[in-house]
Amino acid sequence: MFILKKRGWELPERLATPETHYLNRRQILAGLAGSGVLLGTGLGIRPSFAEEDPSAGLYPVERNASFTLDRDLTAEEVTTKYNNFYEFGSHKQIYPAAQKLKIRPWTVTLDGMIDNPQVVDIDALLGKMPLEERLYRFRCVEAWSMAVPWSGFALSELVKLASPQAGANYLRFETFLDPAVAGGQKQAWYPWPYVEGLTLEEATNELAFMATGIYGKPLAKQYGAPIRLVVPWKYGFKSIKSVVRITFTDKRPVSFWEEIQASEYGFWANVNPSVPHRRWPQSSERLLGTDERRNTLLFNGYEEQVAGIYKNITGERLFM
Ligand code: MTE
Repeated sequence: MFILKKRGWELPERLATPETHYLNRRQILAGLAGSGVLLGTGLGIRPSFAEEDPSAGLYPVERNASFTLDRDLTAEEVTTKYNNFYEFGSHKQIYPAAQKLKIRPWTVTLDGMIDNPQVVDIDALLGKMPLEERLYRFRCVEAWSMAVPWSGFALSELVKLASPQAGANYLRFETFLDPAVAGGQKQAWYPWPYVEGLTLEEATNELAFMATGIYGKPLAKQYGAPIRLVVPWKYGFKSIKSVVRITFTDKRPVSFWEEIQASEYGFWANVNPSVPHRRWPQSSERLLGTDERRNTLLFNGYEEQVAGIYKNITGERLFM
């Protein structure tokens, strides 16, 4: 595996710049970009993928101080080039291939057992949701981890918008399906599209988050633009990218990886250092972009917020 190394003292620019300067500069840049002033000026400003995103002017959003970290943020240069997004390849350097993803127009369909079924345009959704930034740890079952500033909104807000009916105990999430754009989807042995699921109780937990941005910008495509799930107490594969549909249902969804290998990738997939996976030890994790290893924490350190969800569930493999 290829990992870019970054030493602890090399702070990402976002951390090294006072927040007020940072906000002003981004607002000015967003304004200039909107007016076309930057185009062809020869100022040497190379637009990033994020700056092509029409929602760029919304970011950065205010940080919610309730979510704190026990470690430094992982550098953007590292996480932006080390991704799992099988639609674009089964290796970590999918970021060039992922740029083919067309993220406008983009809609999210809310359907199933709800009072307000609707197809909502991503920019309309961004306009009505209370956007905030949260610092979260993120632990992959492959035993690497990162700590990143996601922007977005609580999944509970989307649940409120949908207004689930009695018996709608599960949410089934689905990623786009377009093999012409996502070469990985031509591999017929995978059960495309990527699907994930949560219980309604998990989805309304305060930690469940729909990310639309990262590092104070819209999500770059490789992170699952324009909207993805983030459930930081579960292994990373639960955090489905580029979501186009959320169906409320009374049936437990079978997720992408569960369908491929249920004995290794279960529905619950809560992080637990004492439940080993057949392929990777789970007791510790490698912090991306550093030489550091840390002991993995139960529920990835979010036990206080989520353990209650599971206390009355018996006879289930809650941790894999
Ligand atoms: N979502 C889709 N649609 N396709 C994927 O391949 N990979 C999952 C998850 N969501 C994946 C996905 C896995 S295995 C991980 S670890 C995380 O995305 C990786 O997120 P990151 O690339 O932002 O770190």
